[in-house]
Amino acid sequence: MIYVQIKNIINPSELIRRVFLFCRSTQTHLKTKMSELKIAIQKNGRLSENSKRLLEECGIKFSNGSGVLKTTATNFPVDVLFLRDDDIPQYVEQQVADIGILGENMVLEKDKDVLITEKLGFAQCRLSLAIQKEETYPGLQFFMNKKVATSYPKLLSDFFRRYDIEAEIEEISGSVEIAPGIGLADAVCDIVSSGSTLLTNGLREVETVLKSQAVIISNRNLDAEKKKILNMLLFRIRAVKNAKENKYILLNAPESAISRISKILPGMKSPTILPLMEKGWYSLHSVVKEDEFWESIDKLKEAGAEGILVIPIEKMIL
Ligand code: PRP
Ligand code: ZN
Repeated sequence: MIYVQIKNIINPSELIRRVFLFCRSTQTHLKTKMSELKIAIQKNGRLSENSKRLLEECGIKFSNGSGVLKTTATNFPVDVLFLRDDDIPQYVEQQVADIGILGENMVLEKDKDVLITEKLGFAQCRLSLAIQKEETYPGLQFFMNKKVATSYPKLLSDFFRRYDIEAEIEEISGSVEIAPGIGLADAVCDIVSSGSTLLTNGLREVETVLKSQAVIISNRNLDAEKKKILNMLLFRIRAVKNAKENKYILLNAPESAISRISKILPGMKSPTILPLMEKGWYSLHSVVKEDEFWESIDKLKEAGAEGILVIPIEKMIL
């Protein structure tokens, strides 16, 4: 036995063959690893639940138990990394992650060399200046020579520069809203979503510095394989987004009302019209935009529509 092993090792051609096979298997292994697109999402915070939900709605299955920092999807070639949103732009620039889902506010603040690939429409918020609620606000000159606490020093200094305001920026990484109350600053510049954080801290929003929503950022140098996975993912994301922005609508109408109703509900191509059992009556099916929905309903009723049903759409491929 020992003899066989020694014989194998000292046989140069066998050694070369084994080294070759080993290298090839490692390469194949690396190649398989390479083909997973690494998606960074926020570990905890405003965006984390919605980011996970978006991937799930795209049909991507992965475990997201608490404390897990990285997981591989079981049915789509992606790894999901759970990171602090503040770190995501840098990791995407360095390709620790290939793409990231995070607030546009953080992307613009960190100013890394990454591409904003898609706006996602959720986590809408604004970066705002806020002052203590009892103070009078004469306009932007309020901030002249004042101290403003923020986690967004770049965006705030750009904003002040644009309006020739000389102010001191106190950079703090969290709980910015308590700064005026403890005498650390005269005002704050922070993310406002519902406004409840400002309210509970006795602050009043006075200026909007930037409007923001969740976006996908991607590394500039993705290889062809990863670009392909990203495009597959974007295709699914758009289908989910379109579905959310639209409703499926069914209604009954007499023949005389069909042409008026069809003009109100043009649908994806044109409405589907099916005859009912009752002579002269039709069922009309179409798609209506969520934000035009109530307005359309009123017009439809006026035009003679009856028995209107509105149904959510699961996915919508255009
Ligand atoms: C922001 C901000 C407030 C909160 C405001 O935190 O710092 O804490 O959201 O939301 P509200 O108006 O609904 O009360 P965010 O999650 O953006 O920041 P973080 O990642 O630094 O915690
Ligand atoms: Zn954060």
